[in-house]
Amino acid sequence: MTEHTAGSREKTWQDLIAVADLDPKDVTPVTLGTRELAVFDGVDGIFVSMARCTHGAADLCDGYFDGTRIECPLHQGLFDVRSGAALAAPARVGLRMLQSRIVGGMVQVLV
Ligand code: FES
Repeated sequence: MTEHTAGSREKTWQDLIAVADLDPKDVTPVTLGTRELAVFDGVDGIFVSMARCTHGAADLCDGYFDGTRIECPLHQGLFDVRSGAALAAPARVGLRMLQSRIVGGMVQVLV
């Protein structure tokens, strides 16, 4: 299945990781091409974002995840993984989230 967005290239759903291979109730780092991603197995479902903190060069996969929020390991910026919203300074810019879905036991992302 493909989706089109005006003014951009065609996006397609791509397999990312099997649900069974996720760290349960935690964050799992996954590389897709040149993208370093964070896959969150949260209380409200599975969410995918870019892994790099929007404040600095930290990898959020090394942070503390409580099921809905990820705390950056470097300066303790806080993000809501359901929306990407930045919740606590010094993080001010929200995470870039990827649209995701589960199909046949696989986490897929629209890229
Ligand atoms: S690098 Fe993440 S809060 Fe500073």
